[in-house]
Amino acid sequence: MPQRFYITTPIYYVNDKPHIGHTYTTVLADVIARHRRMMGEEVYFLTGTDEHGQKIEKTAAARGMTPKALADEVMPNFQRLWERMEITHDYFVRTTDAQHKAVIQERFLQLQGTGDIYKDTYKGLYSVSDEAYVTETQAKEMQAQGLAHQLVELEEESYFFRLKAYENWLIQLYEQYPEFVQPDFRLNEVKQFVAPGGERGFLQDLSISRTSITWGIPVPGDERHVVYVWFDALLNYLSACREGFWPPTVQLVGKDILRFHAIYWPAFLMAMFREAGDDLDGPLPARIREQLPHTILAHGWWLMGEDKMSKSRGNVVRPEELLHFGNDAARFFFMREMQVGLDRSFSFEGFMDRLNADLANGLGNLASRTLSMLQRYRHGVVPTAVVLDAQDQEVLEAGRALAPAYLAKAKANDFQGALDLLWTYLRHLDGYIVKSEPWKLAKDETAQARLDTVLCQLYRALRLTAVLAAPVMPDMTQKLWTSLGMTGQVADQRFETFQYEAAAQAPVAEPAPLFQRIDKEAVMQEENQTTEPVAVQAEAPLDLPPVKDLIEYDTFALMDLRVGRVLTAERVPKSKKLIKMTVDIGLETRTILGGIGVAYAPEELVDRKVVVVANLAPRPLMGTMSHGMLLAASDNDSKPYLVAPPEDAKPGFVVR
Ligand code: MSP
Repeated sequence: MPQRFYITTPIYYVNDKPHIGHTYTTVLADVIARHRRMMGEEVYFLTGTDEHGQKIEKTAAARGMTPKALADEVMPNFQRLWERMEITHDYFVRTTDAQHKAVIQERFLQLQGTGDIYKDTYKGLYSVSDEAYVTETQAKEMQAQGLAHQLVELEEESYFFRLKAYENWLIQLYEQYPEFVQPDFRLNEVKQFVAPGGERGFLQDLSISRTSITWGIPVPGDERHVVYVWFDALLNYLSACREGFWPPTVQLVGKDILRFHAIYWPAFLMAMFREAGDDLDGPLPARIREQLPHTILAHGWWLMGEDKMSKSRGNVVRPEELLHFGNDAARFFFMREMQVGLDRSFSFEGFMDRLNADLANGLGNLASRTLSMLQRYRHGVVPTAVVLDAQDQEVLEAGRALAPAYLAKAKANDFQGALDLLWTYLRHLDGYIVKSEPWKLAKDETAQARLDTVLCQLYRALRLTAVLAAPVMPDMTQKLWTSLGMTGQVADQRFETFQYEAAAQAPVAEPAPLFQRIDKEAVMQEENQTTEPVAVQAEAPLDLPPVKDLIEYDTFALMDLRVGRVLTAERVPKSKKLIKMTVDIGLETRTILGGIGVAYAPEELVDRKVVVVANLAPRPLMGTMSHGMLLAASDNDSKPYLVAPPEDAKPGFVVR
C-alpha cells in the first residue's frame, strides 16, 4: 500500500480577504502535497476557513450584517484564489459546516465525560485580538508593546480544559520526538513556553467556552456558552480528516499560531485518545504519540520592511498583485525566496528581479536556446549523446546527481535550498553552451557527434528540470514538458521511475518564451500612476548567451573605448570574413582587422563611425597585426552589427 500523507494548512479567518501571508502558507502546503504525490504517496490535503468567534462577530456587527452572511461573503475569496493558484486540496472545510459542528459537540461531551473538561469561574485579563485569556506576564508584554487597549477585565463562568495535567506528556513529546515541531529553533520556543528554563508548573488550565459572545458552536447541554474558537478551529483537522489518513503528517502554521498547535492541540488529542488506566504522570505511551501529528511545521512571516503585514497596519500585499505576472511566477517566488521557518521582507522590485533573473533569463533563455538549436541543427529531432570529453562527462554527472540532492532537500521542506541547487545546475549548463559553442560545431562537418552530445545533454537537463520543478510551477513545467515532445502530464511522472537518460519520445516543438521578461522600469513608472503593475511582451526568442558574472566599475574602466572613423577598407586575401581597415582614432591612425566580411562590403565601411577597443593588445590575424578591435552586436548566430556612435561624434571621443 502506498504511504499515506495527510497535510493541512491553518484555516483562515473570514474577517478579511486573503493577503500574501495566507497565500504563502497555502502554496507551501500545495508544493509539499504535489511532491508527495510525485513520490508515489497517497495524499490528503485539507484547507478551509475559520468562521466563528469574536473577530468575525465584531467585523460583521461593524458592517451591519450577520456573522454567517459575512462568512458566506468572504469565504469564496479563498476558494476562488486557491482555484486560481491551482491549489490541489482534497477538501475545503468550513467551521460552520453541520458535520464539523457535530464533531465538536461530540468531542466536548467526550472530554467532559473523562473529566478533562470541567466548569469553573474565570477572573482576569483577556486579549480581544488573540481571543485568549492572558497571564500577568503576557499582559505586561502586551502593555510594553503598546497593546494595552486590546486587554479587557473579565469575570465569567467558563468551561476549562485540564491542560496542566498534560504538562508531563507534552514535555516528553518535545524531548523524545523532536520532529514534532520543525524547524528546531521553533521547538525550543515551545519548550521555553511550557517550561521556562526547564522549570515546570507554568501551564494553566485553558478556558474553552465563552458566554460573552454568541457566534460559535453551543456547548452541548449548556447553550449560554459557545465553544472557544480555538477548540472549535483546531478540531477541524479531525472533523474533516478522510478515513484512513489519521494522524496528520505535516501541519503548516505561521509562527504566530505555533503555540496553539504545539501545546493545546496535542493536549486535546492526548485527552481524546488516552485510555482509562493511562498514567498522565508516567511515560508518554507510544500508542498516544502515534495518534498525534507527526510534524507541526512553523514558517515565518512575510514582512513589509520590519513590520508584519496586517490589515490594521494597512501594509498588506494582495496576491492579485503578484498573480498579474502569472501563477507560476508567484509560486516560484514564494518558494525560492523564503527559507521555511524564517521571516522575509517583501519587495516588489525584488520580486521582479527574481523572476527576470531566474525565469526569463535563466530557465526561459536556456529552454529557448536549446529548442531553437534543436530545430535549426537537427530539425527538432533529439540526437543521442556519446560522452566525448571531460566537460560532457561533468554535465552528465551533474544531471545524475541533481535529482537525489534536490529531492532530499524537498523532502526536508527546504525548497529554497532545492531550487538553489537546480538553478546552479542551470547556470552550469549555460556555461557548457558557452564553452562548447554549438553554433561553431554546427558549421564543422567533423564535429557532428559532439554537437549531438551537447544538444542531447541540454535536452535531458530541461526534461529533468520540468519534472523536478513541476510541484512548484505546474503550468510552466507542463508547457516545457510538452514542447520537449513529451506526452501526458508532467505531474503524473513519478520521481522514482523517471529516467534522466531515457531517449526522447518525439521531436521537440518550436521555441516559445516560457516567461515574459518584465520591464521593471515600465512597471515602476506605471506603479506611480496606478497601483496595478503591468508587463510587456518579450521579444521573439534569440540565441542569446547568458549575462556574464558581475564586475566592478573599476574593472570596466580598464577598457579604453574610442570613437573611430574608418579611412580605408579592403578584404584580406583568402579570407571570407576578415577585412583590413585603417581607422582614425583621433590620436593616431590604426590598422585594425575585423571579422565582419560576411556582413559588410569594404565600400560600406569607409567613412563609417565605429567604436574601437583602443587598448587591446595587438595580435596577428592571417599574417597582419591588428591594433585594436571594433565593437559589434549579435546573438550567437546572427551576423555582426557594428556599434555606431552618432554621426557628429568625433574620432578620439572616449566611450564610457
Ligand atoms: N484562524 C486561525 C488559524 C486556525 S488553525 C486551526 C488564524 N487565521 S489567520 O487567517 O489569521 O492566519 C492564517 C495563517 O496565515 C497563519 O498561519 C498565519 O501565520 C499566516 N499568516 C498571516 N500573516 C502572515 C504573514 N504576513 N506572513 C506569513 N504568514 C502569515 O490564525
